[in-house]
Amino acid sequence: MTSTTADIDRTAWFRDARFGMFIHFGLYSVAGRHEWVQNYESIGESDYRVYFEHFTADRFDASTWARTAKAAGMEYVVLTSKHHEGFCLWDSEYTDYSAPQSPAGRDLVEELVAACRSEGLRIGLYYSLLDWHHPDFPLDGFHPDWKNRSTSEPRDGDGYVSYLHAQVEELIVRFGPDILWFDFSYPGDSVVEQGKGADFWQSERLLARITELAPDMLVNDRLDVPGSEDFITPEEVQPSRDIVNGDLQLWEACRTLNGSWGYAPTYQNWLDAGQVLRLLIDSVSKGGNLLLNVGPTGRGDIEKRAALLLGDVGEWMDVHESSIRGAGVSSIPAPEGCRITERDGRVFVHVFDWPTGHLVLRGLPAPLAFARFVHDGVEVRHEVIGEVSDLAPHVVLAGPAGSTVLKLPIVRPDVLIPVIELDFAR
Ligand code: GLC
Repeated sequence: MTSTTADIDRTAWFRDARFGMFIHFGLYSVAGRHEWVQNYESIGESDYRVYFEHFTADRFDASTWARTAKAAGMEYVVLTSKHHEGFCLWDSEYTDYSAPQSPAGRDLVEELVAACRSEGLRIGLYYSLLDWHHPDFPLDGFHPDWKNRSTSEPRDGDGYVSYLHAQVEELIVRFGPDILWFDFSYPGDSVVEQGKGADFWQSERLLARITELAPDMLVNDRLDVPGSEDFITPEEVQPSRDIVNGDLQLWEACRTLNGSWGYAPTYQNWLDAGQVLRLLIDSVSKGGNLLLNVGPTGRGDIEKRAALLLGDVGEWMDVHESSIRGAGVSSIPAPEGCRITERDGRVFVHVFDWPTGHLVLRGLPAPLAFARFVHDGVEVRHEVIGEVSDLAPHVVLAGPAGSTVLKLPIVRPDVLIPVIELDFAR
């Protein structure tokens, strides 16, 4: 994909931000067994209703969420305004299957948008194209009622699509989000998928309307119109650098903290803070963003383990922000076990695997003038290996003539990921 100057301007804040929080909150948070629980357990409409009746969100405090994201070093938040279950977190004029009409009695989108704005965070709204509550959404293979398809009334897919378009317009007009994050298309023609792609969603028409209403808003890649997207959304995977093509293709990797997007206490595949930072740094070094998910509990709290982890991430970000924010791909090849990011000529070497004594840098654009740790500003001494070197023989062996050797302390600094900033002679 080629970017125009206008695209580059529209997306500048997003390229700069690098780190955002995904929030999956809905009725499934009360079930606490993954946001696909309605499908996984084939729960029919009337049985699922119990979660609506117990959706109180009494501990959901939008400003706590916004402040937590900010303190973790994030610059934007993406909230599920509606997930596949069809429940809407805002006061939609097109349905009463919404948070304001539930025991919660509040418009949670409005609250979070306001809280993010007052913290200076950008806000994105996730919107599910699937809708397992709407009476006109076809009973395809993902639908919780798939097993009962033979007994069901005919459905008016176009009727559903008008609802979808109207709700998207409503979200844009009411909240003016910075991102619309659609999820997802499955255009295959199998009996399970039944062609839920651009034709079915009438994506081209929807995109034209979006451009008319909100030309600066960014839209992701899940509407099944290749080339229309502002960014692509690899899910639970880090793309390789060849695939994402450096700075040319905008992308945002999204990740769960524990294997489920919605709050699910039995999902215990927890990342630790060091892994989260590795994902973030790896993304930035390849020109991408990281959207890290946190699922509020059934009452809307941030669970303790997530809060502690975000605290550790935030502590690192507080000191190392310069190597992440606004940084991107560097032309300097990263040594083994390292990732390099660069911003305005400032170069940052993130050392994932701590070597014993020496780190060899090649392909530097100019001689190194000074190197220092970012966390404490202390010098890292360096030498260039010459043809005829007066360095100790063991250092000469570290790399070919012309390469620069950073002389590292044996003991790894006590930060989650040590970072060394390189300053070149001009
Ligand atoms: C998926 C899942 C969904 C999750 C999303 C996040 O497509 O269906 O539950 O919200 O990805 O990327």
